[in-house]
Amino acid sequence: MLSGRAVEQDAIDALLASARSGVSGALVLRGEPGIGKTALLDYAREKADGMQVLRCVGAESEAALPYAGLHLVLRPVLGQTTKLPPAQRAALDGAFGLGGVPTDPFAIGAAVLALLAEAAETGPLLCLVDDAQWLDRSSVAAMLFAARRLDREGVAVLFAAREYAEVLVSTGLPERRLAGLAEPDALLLLKAHADLTDDQRRQLVAETHGNPLALLELPAVVSTTAGPLPLPLTSRVQDAFHHQVRALPPACQALLLVAAADDTGDLLVLLAAAADLGASSTDLQPAEARGW
Ligand SMILES: Nc1ncnc2c1ncn2[C@@H]1O[C@H](COP(=O)(O)OP(=O)(O)OP(=O)(O)O)[C@@H](O)[C@H]1O
Ligand SMILES: [Mg+2]
Repeated sequence: MLSGRAVEQDAIDALLASARSGVSGALVLRGEPGIGKTALLDYAREKADGMQVLRCVGAESEAALPYAGLHLVLRPVLGQTTKLPPAQRAALDGAFGLGGVPTDPFAIGAAVLALLAEAAETGPLLCLVDDAQWLDRSSVAAMLFAARRLDREGVAVLFAAREYAEVLVSTGLPERRLAGLAEPDALLLLKAHADLTDDQRRQLVAETHGNPLALLELPAVVSTTAGPLPLPLTSRVQDAFHHQVRALPPACQALLLVAAADDTGDLLVLLAAAADLGASSTDLQPAEARGW
């Protein structure tokens, strides 16, 4: 059971209903770590009764392998490439190293579109692409190419990516940016999962901006924390945000570290400490660009 997210669930319900009636569509979900993207993809899968579901999750370890993600998502329907025109079958074979030469991205995108249409011949199809920020670019490009051209095949495609994923910016597809849960929903989630006082609950909701992962993980530490927040973070919450910080240039990371360690709130103190580590205020730009 999800707290809140009625608008997103309605959008997903509509996408699935359309696919069932033969009309294709796509939706991109974007948002920070732990905000609930995978939870909504899971919701879609649960509601996809009777639909064929293809799913892939991006993995950093395969991000440099062209078409690795596409291979993952299409694997269950690759047997149907025999029904495609030879040129399209050859394009996919080339992309997946099954013979022939790697073909141009346009041909591969067109072949993905044809294969999805073929797979949806026998019934509506749902494609779930999670953690797209870690998919190889060629796969995302091919999936987007197909998603933008879907029409009356009965295919629904849902992409989920972290906020900063450049691959899914300005796709031309409908997009929903997930913010934190609204306060009443966040309070209900906390009530259901943790034994906290009203004050602690309100404080947690304010401090986490309604991020569900933080709301679920932090109560365990809040009850053992004396005094006001900031809270110690659980390893799951830390992991979720660590990926983002690790991707920043070293000088920017150094500045963030100094800012996190600083308890004076004095910019001059902070910049002096940062200067000792070889960082200056301009090094914050990449973090600012992400809206931090
Ligand atoms: N609306 C919600 N109601 C209740 N629990 C939720 C909700 N959204 C997310 N959660 C829970 O919060 C946790 C984090 O959510 P989720 O894994 O979907 O985040 P995410 O956006 O996919 O994060 P990441 O970018 O790290 O993949 C999960 O345990 C999930 O079940
Ligand atoms: Mg996720």
